[in-house]
Amino acid sequence: MLDALWERRALLVSGKGGVGKTTIAAALARAAVASGRRVLLAEVEVSSDEQNGPSPLATLAGARAPGPRVTEVSRGLSFVRLSPIEGQRLFLQDVLPLRVMADAAMRTRALRRFLEAAPALREMGVLYQMLHLLRSTRPDGSPLHTLTILDLPATGHALALAALPDALLSVMPGGPVGRAVREGLSLLRDPALTGALLVTLPEPLPVSETLELATAIQRHRIPITAGVLNRMPDNPFSPDGRAAVERLLDEHGPHRGQRALAQLDRARAAEARLAGNLAAPLFTVPELPAVGTELVERLATHFTRSVVPPERSTGSAGARP
Ligand SMILES: Nc1ncnc2c1ncn2[C@@H]1O[C@H](COP(=O)(O)OP(=O)(O)OP(=O)(O)O)[C@@H](O)[C@H]1O
Ligand SMILES: [Mg+2]
Repeated sequence: MLDALWERRALLVSGKGGVGKTTIAAALARAAVASGRRVLLAEVEVSSDEQNGPSPLATLAGARAPGPRVTEVSRGLSFVRLSPIEGQRLFLQDVLPLRVMADAAMRTRALRRFLEAAPALREMGVLYQMLHLLRSTRPDGSPLHTLTILDLPATGHALALAALPDALLSVMPGGPVGRAVREGLSLLRDPALTGALLVTLPEPLPVSETLELATAIQRHRIPITAGVLNRMPDNPFSPDGRAAVERLLDEHGPHRGQRALAQLDRARAAEARLAGNLAAPLFTVPELPAVGTELVERLATHFTRSVVPPERSTGSAGARP
């Protein structure tokens, strides 16, 4: 099951704010490296002002100087902060006859201002840099990075990126932009090559929002590779034990323990609803008592050890007992 994830060229990690996208992206990258993949962990530059500051993903990956150039942070793991300007420069470099012309053009303040002003042109830059990196090969012709994991900043951004190719094609169907967009689209829309990983939490509202996001993403014909139900609370009870605890709690009137049990039930219901309605496999990831790189390491171990019976098309990747 996880091996099937690693067979993709690119995974786009999306979901609402704070659900664990960055943590999951970093943990998956680590697990993929452990299984022998050459992984590029990528994020999107939010504004050109924050070019050199560390981001949560860069910190978790150990990237000391995150920027638009790919840097190797450890064996098998590289990091990049996709930048609209870098993508636009690469694009110009590909369409103009001389590299120096692209560099000179990008130094023109009027052009820079024009490129920065239109959100679609910023998104196009990001998409183009991603495409450029996916195309990059080693001297033997094999991909430079076998798997790219992109941590998308917010669902709005994921949708804007997903919508972009159609929007660009409608205004620029031909020429170099059209060609690049078509190439990007054939990659983005091929479920064997790429797909979205939708991260969510085991609560009713986040699950509803995730199902809506799934519909919106599919409308742009971007495949959904899997759902990730993150921070699943541990259920320590056997059915008998649970009944005994409920009896005890009832005897003591309203109690915090009852809230904990209700949360467990909500989490299970959320998992069942997501598994039943998301047309993609579902990984359930436990809530772990750790933070930062320790959390990432433990989740990576969890992913590496996860075994899912092959006959199950949906279900948990978690080795829950
Ligand atoms: N499985 C987990 N167990 C325990 N804590 C977790 C787990 N996954 C994520 N967290 C914690 O949840 C918080 C949010 O995680 P993270 O920053 O990865 O979310 P995000 O979706 O990337 O947020 P944002 O939308 O702000 O980028 C962090 O404090 C992280 O340590
Ligand atoms: Mg994040």
